[in-house]
Amino acid sequence: MESPIEEVKNRIDIVGLISEYVTVKKAGRNFKALCPFHPEKTPSFMISPERQIFKCFGCNEGGDVFAFIKRSEGMEFGEALKFLADKAGVKLPDYKPGGEEKLKETVLEANRLTSELYHYLLVSHSSGKRALEYLKARRVTDKSIKDFQIGFSPGGNDTLVKFLTKRGFIPKDLITAGLILPSFGKGMYDRFRDRITFPIRNLQGKVIGFSARSLGSNQPKYMNSPETPVFSKSGVLFGMDRAKGEIKKQNEAVLVEGNIDVVSSHQVGITNVVAPLGTSLTEKQLEILRRFTETLLISFDTDIAGDAAAKRGIDMAEKIGMNIKVVQLTEGKDPDEIIRNNPNLWKESLKKPIPVYDYYINSAIKGFGTSDPYAKKKIAKEVLPQIARINDEIVKAHYINKLSGILGVEDSAVATELGRYKFSAGEEKSPQVKPEIISQTNLLEKYLLALIIQSGDLPKGVGEDLFGDAELKDLFNLIRNQVKKIGKVRIRNLGNQMPEALLAVFDELILLNIGEEILEFPERIKKEIISCVKRIKSLNLRAELKDLSLAIKQQEITGSEGKTRQLVEKFQKLSSGLVEPEQNIS
Ligand code: UTP
Ligand code: MN
Repeated sequence: MESPIEEVKNRIDIVGLISEYVTVKKAGRNFKALCPFHPEKTPSFMISPERQIFKCFGCNEGGDVFAFIKRSEGMEFGEALKFLADKAGVKLPDYKPGGEEKLKETVLEANRLTSELYHYLLVSHSSGKRALEYLKARRVTDKSIKDFQIGFSPGGNDTLVKFLTKRGFIPKDLITAGLILPSFGKGMYDRFRDRITFPIRNLQGKVIGFSARSLGSNQPKYMNSPETPVFSKSGVLFGMDRAKGEIKKQNEAVLVEGNIDVVSSHQVGITNVVAPLGTSLTEKQLEILRRFTETLLISFDTDIAGDAAAKRGIDMAEKIGMNIKVVQLTEGKDPDEIIRNNPNLWKESLKKPIPVYDYYINSAIKGFGTSDPYAKKKIAKEVLPQIARINDEIVKAHYINKLSGILGVEDSAVATELGRYKFSAGEEKSPQVKPEIISQTNLLEKYLLALIIQSGDLPKGVGEDLFGDAELKDLFNLIRNQVKKIGKVRIRNLGNQMPEALLAVFDELILLNIGEEILEFPERIKKEIISCVKRIKSLNLRAELKDLSLAIKQQEITGSEGKTRQLVEKFQKLSSGLVEPEQNIS
């Protein structure tokens, strides 16, 4: 009998699973993607469908489907197993979660029931009537209310307390869930009272918390769930569970400020839209977005706070290497208002986002005006640091020209002024990887073996003598034996019979990013293998010559003349091999 773990592994395909999180591309017999676990601009995240493993050569994260889920969902092994078993339809008869997992489950269940209760109260109960009218007045449709499971938390003090304790939840857990609050001497009371509730969901659509808006002008306008075992405000985006598919499909995400903006936009069919919970966008939220797309359209409110938030967002998103553009809003203070007045205007604005540099220029003109020299100076001061960051000289020239036009000065004046702003590039953060000292020969040996494994082709003339590294030599011999037996390299078979000690290096070589531009052309692979063999031989030869020349020096000092001559002859013979490398590979 298969164990549940094996059963889950057999049923879940790692490529399919990972492509729910990031866009994956075929690369030879593997797939590659931008690593979801660290910022990068070129893919170093590889997936092997045959071995059902992944590895990031940038941050060293790697493993099977469980490792992937543990890392990307922040789960313990047991949770990941349950998560994947659910997905695969595998029953886990005697699964018993540990304390921490159990608490998370309890909190999620309490949230789920709470969301259902609040939704019911909004749509079907007299207590929710006022809230429903408020939403209707704001043109939120029944469908949106249902899709987002928008709800109403009544004004009484303990509606939820009663509802949940009746269902067996203990107060301690509900306090942990952030749903109720202790009150000294008076038991407990509901956290959210007399508010419209927006359930906040994780990527899988599970309710992890709430964002609750007051009905009128009561302050604070919004109350959010506190940090709980399943909720951290800085790590979620409102609407992401519903938007992620479309974001990936369109390869573009739209970031708006408010929950209501998200709902309104979805309501008119633009569904790649999400919002941070509050205006302070975090790097973690951007990282989540970046798993689905590199391109971000920022469309924040047209007030000063929105402007500042947009600029912060631009900086942060650029730092992690995303492409950002700004959706300039006209005829309204935020997307919600614009959508209400004219949904087409919203759709049109999204089609023509402006580069961040134009946004900076527009925002400065709006802020300072262009009437007097001091205003112009302020504009320059605000915009030049941005223009200074542009790498492409032609693009830079374009903005110098644009700015000088606005300021009414010569291009050269702006260019001179620009020289003052030294650009410190937002460098790609390199992940903390332990530096490993690897010789060039070792790298070449690995590359050669990876070429053989990934192409499935073992040309004659490639022998074990090429491999100085003992593990690589053993691995090579296993492959050679298989080729002798069945005429080709079969990864699956090899993997199954691989000794434990060689598995790690085997998996590393399978996943090594060789590049489709080579792997898809047999003749290029062959050429690559030949040149690899040549380089290894020549490196080995050089090493041997170096040893020899040392030995010759030694002999000259201490040894016999005959012996020295012998060594010198050997040296000469060997070094001639450097000029005419052997080429007997077929
Ligand atoms: P907004 O004030 O723009 O709210 O704040 P909104 O959602 O657009 O609501 P309306 O249109 O005025 O009704 C933007 C977001 O900032 C967070 C909420 O997530 C809100 O959606 N916020 C705002 C808070 O967390 N707390 C607050 O007190 C206010
Ligand atoms: Mn708003």
